[in-house]
Amino acid sequence: MCVRFEKLPAEDDSLQEVGRTNTTKAQLAASALRLNQRLELPWQRIARLFYAEPFLAISIQIANHMHLFKTLHEQEGSRTVDDLAHSLGRDPSFIRRILRSLSAGKILEQHGSDAYFSTPLSEVLLVPEAVHAIDFLFESGYPYFALIPEYIQSIGFVSPADQGAWQNFRKTDMSIYEWLDTHPEEMMNFVGLMKVWSESQEPWIELYPADSLLDSADKQGTILVDVAGGGGRDINNFLGRYPQTAGRLVLQDRPEEVKAAKIQQGIERMPHDIFTPQPIKAARAYFLHSILHNYTDERARDLLGHLKKSMNPGYSKVLVYEDTVSNQDPKELSCGSDLVMMATFGTGARTELDWELLFDSVGLKLNKTFRSTRGSQCLMELELVT
Ligand SMILES: C[S@@+](CC[C@H](N)C(=O)[O-])C[C@H]1O[C@@H](n2cnc3c(N)ncnc32)[C@H](O)[C@@H]1O
Repeated sequence: MCVRFEKLPAEDDSLQEVGRTNTTKAQLAASALRLNQRLELPWQRIARLFYAEPFLAISIQIANHMHLFKTLHEQEGSRTVDDLAHSLGRDPSFIRRILRSLSAGKILEQHGSDAYFSTPLSEVLLVPEAVHAIDFLFESGYPYFALIPEYIQSIGFVSPADQGAWQNFRKTDMSIYEWLDTHPEEMMNFVGLMKVWSESQEPWIELYPADSLLDSADKQGTILVDVAGGGGRDINNFLGRYPQTAGRLVLQDRPEEVKAAKIQQGIERMPHDIFTPQPIKAARAYFLHSILHNYTDERARDLLGHLKKSMNPGYSKVLVYEDTVSNQDPKELSCGSDLVMMATFGTGARTELDWELLFDSVGLKLNKTFRSTRGSQCLMELELVT
């Protein structure tokens, strides 16, 4: 998208008016980021990447631990440094340093030198899942990420053939999911991280014409199975959009995860291991969101093979919602995710062609791809080759 510089808002203008839809906002933000990356001087960029942004994250976590965002949000309007310090029972000179940092990173708004306001972003930082996600990053994420370069060097600068870096970090033989099963607090934090990841993407229900699933659906049968659906956000979205849905809606995941999911009444919980036969036969759709990127082609074929055996030819669909990396126009978040998957599972992000070849190799036909206009995610609709 081409943005004319004179149309970009001045720093203090209300950004609410700039992009009327989330899509335009996301496109403008991407253009502004690219512009910034080109304009920033090399040493400035290094300082921002490795110093300013990590310390902004540190300020946010200190503020979280002191309940600063909650205290600020409890009262309408601005709060002064002394007033906030008093409410929090902390030293004003310390509180000022944290507030200053949060204001510099536009996490809070500041008026003059002493008054601070909440922002939509600081309000989201109060959502329990956001708090859990940040806890996960501080306790597991960042200490783990910091060891990845050393691990990659130790195996000779190649893509790991299998999992390894996580096991090296946690001194365990368990996969990250098995490890999380035995660490319930970290599991809750990880679910928060998944929520942040999903919320940052376009809801699948806005991208895909889901009413097509209800057309000629067998109302006595299962409409949607959210396979390894985690916290249940996607299937909740479906029920929210079609509250009168007749037919069964099922959330499947590992037992611990499925038990903890916050799902609406009308959705069934079902513990299920994706590497075993799929117990729900002839569903209208089997939905897989951010699952296949965890697995090599071989394991993904195993998983898809189980779904295939349950599908009703000409009726059932598999919907795969995944990040798709582009070799031509790669995006930071997709590439970051690719490297985390590489280190953690010995896998990685796939290009659209990789996806097509994978589906083809297992006898599933890629019917249509719905590309998000906000990011690099694609929703791919698959059918059995008949
Ligand atoms: C990256 S998360 C995605 C969750 C959800 N689909 C979403 O987009 O929010 C991967 C999910 O796979 C689940 N999972 C991992 N191994 C599994 C297995 N063998 N059987 C079933 N679920 C599994 C995890 O518990 C987790 O919820």
